[in-house]
Order: sequence, then structure tokens, then C-alpha cells
Amino acid sequence: MSSSLEKIILGIDTSCDDTSVAVVQGRRVLSNVISSQDEVHRAFGGVVPMLAKRAHETQFPIVLKKALQRAKVTPENIDCIAVTRGPGLAPALELGLQKAKELAQEWNKPITGINHLEGHLWSAVAETSTGSGGWKFKSADFPILGVIVSGGHTELYEITGVGQYTHLGGTVDDAFGEAFDKAARLLGLGYPGGAALADLAESGDSAAYSLPRPMRLTPDYNVSYSGLKTALVRLVEEVSQKNQRLLTETEIRNLAASFQAAATDTILNKVQKALKEHTYKHILLGGGGAANKQLRKKLRIIAKNYSSELHVPNKNSLLRDNAAMIALAAALRLEKNIPLNAEMDRIPHWKLESPDENKL
Ligand code: KG4
Ligand code: ZN
Repeated sequence: MSSSLEKIILGIDTSCDDTSVAVVQGRRVLSNVISSQDEVHRAFGGVVPMLAKRAHETQFPIVLKKALQRAKVTPENIDCIAVTRGPGLAPALELGLQKAKELAQEWNKPITGINHLEGHLWSAVAETSTGSGGWKFKSADFPILGVIVSGGHTELYEITGVGQYTHLGGTVDDAFGEAFDKAARLLGLGYPGGAALADLAESGDSAAYSLPRPMRLTPDYNVSYSGLKTALVRLVEEVSQKNQRLLTETEIRNLAASFQAAATDTILNKVQKALKEHTYKHILLGGGGAANKQLRKKLRIIAKNYSSELHVPNKNSLLRDNAAMIALAAALRLEKNIPLNAEMDRIPHWKLESPDENKL
């Protein structure tokens, strides 16, 4: 149970196309407000960095006000401000850092920069505002296998402590969520269509079409998604040309299910390899793509086979880009007496395992 003496942290994340401000106390999430920019970028079929920055600018004051109101706190109650320094889109990161610095000055509060990926990794430890839920890890639980599947990242890490990460592998091209979004676009499911594709796939036959699992047998923990996307493009052409007509609803469902099976197998093959070659009693799963039901279902089975326990956040709002996970990463650092990093320049390609830039 969290104590009321724990620090109250205001989190800010503007790393991509979601404007988010949150308030946490220790591991308890008091508020987590997210404003999506999907409408802004839809016409372009992808995120336009300068438009993202402008939308963050407009949304920030509204989101901040809501976050404070929902958490029932005033600026005086805030002990520290935690903001994402990277990785992310440079103009978008800049806006969040600028706002964080302005607030820190106005409210006279300390400020700390957080790696966005550290937030995604630990989101499963988040508790509700009343202190329920959330995985309560102990030092004996390390090393932990960390898996991030989001729109911009697909990464595997060995976690040996808070702030101690070794990169095992990741995507060499497209990210997991990005691949879902591209496949969804190809199947005419809109932008960003990852979640819509996954919904359709639920009622499709994943064995209807055969799609590749690229890099399945490579001796590393890396994955690739661009070959799968190309294979889907060819398959869609083949199916529609053969029948001399547009895809039917059933064909779209089956293509979605076959794609989802290949995309989830691709990352899970490497997760399984990591579990086979190391001993990880616990797995932390995070990122927007972790909302995928098939991925979770298959990962639970694999984890069980290796006597490992899977931990996922209790809310989908903690999976997608959000500021609660940023404040939470700062809270964990405080909990473990790790001095907070006060450097405030943006690092668009910040690697979580990078010892120099992550140095405290
Ligand atoms: O974590 P997130 O908000 O953004 C990044 O940090 O990049 O993840 C968003 C991504 C999008 O690509 C979205 O299509 C994907 O997660 N996503 C899904 C599902 N729900 C969201 N991908 C597969 N299955 C889902 N159910
Ligand atoms: Zn993210």
C-alpha cells in the first residue's frame, strides 16, 4: 500500500502525436489525461512533426488543467515535474520540454528528464488512485525480460534493476504497431488502423493465407516487419487479381487474421528464444501494440511454458503513449534513491541502454 508521504509527480509526454499530462503519487496514478492528434494527421496517413508540435501547443494547457483537476491537486502539491526527453519527434519533444521548464520556473519545482521507453517498460507496476493493482516487484525478481511493442518501437531488454537495461534486440526496420497500421491501410481500414485490423482479425481465419515470419531463424533477438508488409501487398494483389474484383469482407477478415498471426509470431519467436536462453521469471510487456489480444494470449502460453509470469498494465491507457508512465518512471527512480537527472535537452534517438546519456 502506498503512503501519502510519497512524492507527487507531474508527468508530461509529447514525444509523438499524443499530448499527455498525468499526476502520480508514488506508484498510484491520480490522473492520466491523453489528447490524441489522430484527426490532425489522418489526411497525411502518418504523423507530421511540425503539425504535432502545433497541436501539442494548443492542447497542452487544456490537458494540464484536466490532469490537475482529476487528481484533485494544485501546483503547490506537486513535488517534481518529469518530462520525456526522448526518443521521439524532435519538434514534439521540444514543446513538452519547453512547457515543463516554464512550469518548473513558475511553480519553483525540480524537473527531471525521462526516457520514454523506460516509461513503457514499467507501466505494469502502475496502481490505481486507491493503490490497487500494479505488479509489486522485489529485488529477487530480477533479471526481468522487458518487451515493448509500440508504433515506433519493438524492443527486447534484459532489466537488472530500475535504470539498468541491456538491449537484447529489436526491429531492424518497421515497428510492430507501424506494421499493423501499414497493413490496415492496405486493407482500407483507415488511419491509424492497427486496432481496427486486430478487431477484424478476431473473426478471421489465420490459416487462410500463408505469410512469412522474417528473421525467425537468425541467431540474434532482432526482428523485421518490412518483408511481411511487402508479402501482404503481393498477397492482396494476387487475391484481387485472381478474382478480378475488390476484396470481400471475408477475405479482408482472413487477410487481417493471417497478418496478425505472422506479426505476433515474429516478435514472439524472439521472446521465446530469450526465455529459452536465459532465466527470466518475469516479463514486462508495454507499448500501444500490447493491447493486441492474440499477442497477449500467445505470450501467456509461452511464458507459462518457461515458468515465467507476464505482467501487463491494468488499463489500455497505460499502454499507449501517456504521461503517467513517465511520472511513474521518475517515481521508481526516487523510490530506489537514484538521483534525478536535471539535464533538459531533447534526445530524439535516445537509447534506453545508452550509459552516457542515461547517466545520472
Ligand atoms: O505506444 P503507442 O501509443 O505509440 C508509440 O509509442 O509509438 O502505440 C501506438 C501503436 C499504433 O501503431 C497502433 O496501431 C498500435 O499501437 N496498436 C495496435 C493495437 N492497438 C494499438 N497494434 C496491434 N494490435 C492492437 N490491438
Ligand atoms: Zn511510445
